[in-house]
Amino acid sequence: METTTRLSSPLELAGLRLPNRFVMAPMTRFRSPGGVPTPEVAAYYRRRAENGAGLIVTEGTLVGHPSASHETTVPRMTAGASEEGWRRVTGEVHAAGGRIAAQLWHLGSEREPVDGYASWTPGTMSPADIDVIIGAFAEAARVAVRAGFDAVEIHAAHGYLLDEFLWGETNRRTDRFGGTPARRAAFPAEIVGAVRAELPASTPLIVRFSQFKERDYSARIAADPAELAEILSALAGAGADVLHASQRRFWEPAFEGSPLNLAGWAKRITGLPTITVGSVGLSRDLWIEHLSRLEEGLTSEYDLVAIGRILLGNPGWVRHALADRLGEVRDYRKADEDIYF
Ligand SMILES: Cc1cc2nc3c(=O)[nH]c(=O)nc-3n(C[C@H](O)[C@H](O)[C@H](O)COP(=O)(O)O)c2cc1C
Repeated sequence: METTTRLSSPLELAGLRLPNRFVMAPMTRFRSPGGVPTPEVAAYYRRRAENGAGLIVTEGTLVGHPSASHETTVPRMTAGASEEGWRRVTGEVHAAGGRIAAQLWHLGSEREPVDGYASWTPGTMSPADIDVIIGAFAEAARVAVRAGFDAVEIHAAHGYLLDEFLWGETNRRTDRFGGTPARRAAFPAEIVGAVRAELPASTPLIVRFSQFKERDYSARIAADPAELAEILSALAGAGADVLHASQRRFWEPAFEGSPLNLAGWAKRITGLPTITVGSVGLSRDLWIEHLSRLEEGLTSEYDLVAIGRILLGNPGWVRHALADRLGEVRDYRKADEDIYF
């Protein structure tokens, strides 16, 4: 295998210096009882930082509103014990020479009413509810800054609240938050603006979006590049510094008629730096098969490459990839999702 020169080159990302192009993708782990990250959580992220992950994006962390989630072991980004837990995480990652972004999350209608709290959908949110949730994201950003995070990522992908606004199937509103792609992006964009206002200039704001939903892989928020441009221009205009285009397989074109992937379109439309993701390095064979495509798109389509599942069972994957020693790494297997080290 060729040395992965582009992947190992440093990058200045909206004021944040990164040593290489690998990002640890956000992955929910259910290891934070009461919403508080434990010392084991800090050790888990530290281990990935020690092994060369240029930027870590945390698992989704819940904004401080009861509608955000029913889950009790998903970490929160709220003042008090959760903030303390995160301060330990950022401290350990920094001590290992790493950089870490907090992903902010609201589950929307994926929030189950197991505790009697009725879930929200785009259609049931009043203007006052919308203001409350914008405020909850802004507060979570304040907590993240206090806890020492280097960046913040807003989760607007995969069928959760913000993505439910972006998607015409779930957003049937007739007020200014529904209708055209640009109007469907208005609520996510207001959150982007409110969060950006809480962050120091040198703290990048990343926005993660996707076409697919976890419940529907064929769903699309944008039927064509023009619709995508309406959405992404709204998010960029509101203050997004980086776009994280979530795909299940990075090498797949986003639209017919062009080989560009989703991150490639995002970069072309907005001019912002982008992150690609999706089945990178899942197995050694896949890595070899798609490495030239991965490197080819680096800088023209995307600036960073996120890796998820392979890092669960192989905390040292980035170090091995940068040294061309993936022969020492075993392929991803589903059971890796149950282990935690
Ligand atoms: C166990 C698990 C948990 C995940 N949790 C999140 C999450 O909290 N937020 C998010 O945006 N994506 C989440 N994802 C999606 C990943 O960030 C990533 O996009 C996906 O795994 C594809 O990358 P990969 O093929 O390298 O694993 C999760 C994926 C897995 C496997």
